[in-house]
Amino acid sequence: MEYFLDTADIEAIKRINEIFPLKGVTTNPSIIAKEKRDFKDIINDIYNIIGKEKVVHAQAVGSTADIIVKEVNLLRDTFGENIYAKIPVTFEGIKAMKILSKDGHKITATGILSSQQIIMAAEAGAEYMAPYINRSDNIGESGVEIVRDAYKILEMFKKSDEECLKRYKRVFELKILGASFKNVRQVHETMLAGSKSVTISPDVFERLIYHPYTDWSMDTFNSDWEKIYGDKTLIDLL
Ligand code: E4P
Repeated sequence: MEYFLDTADIEAIKRINEIFPLKGVTTNPSIIAKEKRDFKDIINDIYNIIGKEKVVHAQAVGSTADIIVKEVNLLRDTFGENIYAKIPVTFEGIKAMKILSKDGHKITATGILSSQQIIMAAEAGAEYMAPYINRSDNIGESGVEIVRDAYKILEMFKKSDEECLKRYKRVFELKILGASFKNVRQVHETMLAGSKSVTISPDVFERLIYHPYTDWSMDTFNSDWEKIYGDKTLIDLL
């Protein structure tokens, strides 16, 4: 599994990166705007916390393919190879993906609310596809079905590795980066649908492994131990 943190909140990134195995951090224009500070400083601060070997996803904001292409080139020139350019699945976005993927850019297709958008973005050369699970659920559709159907379609028309290398210059793997989660159940269902990557906001992230019975079990162990050994740990006893 690949876990990404969906935030630009530096304190939350520090806290969660110290504990959990993160693949990287994802942002979007709303997440960045919330910080009310220099864009370049925000991305550099994130890299300083997670390390340059990890990846950051930053979104292009231009509304034409021409501007998106320029933005994405600048992103790579400024931050290096470990930046993924998030590009929306609009007409202009798909056009930009086609141009940029030929130039080896790392692309995450974003704003996805249908399986067809996943398939189209993958064909246009995006590496990750980010379906918005909760936004889909919110209007009575199903984020998880979007993921499931996309995998089903891709599996039915799977291309050979040889064909993929020729066409995409890489062995093709449909990487669905589940996004926009409001609860752990949505994350769980998205993984079950086949998604190996998820990006999660800090509040939902910290609930991923929470279970009240685990806490109760640890409290019981601690109080049983203390009755006999006080505050000693194994360091004192071995
Ligand atoms: C993903 O690309 C988006 O940044 C994000 O997950 C959207 O989440 P939201 O619907 O909670 O704003």
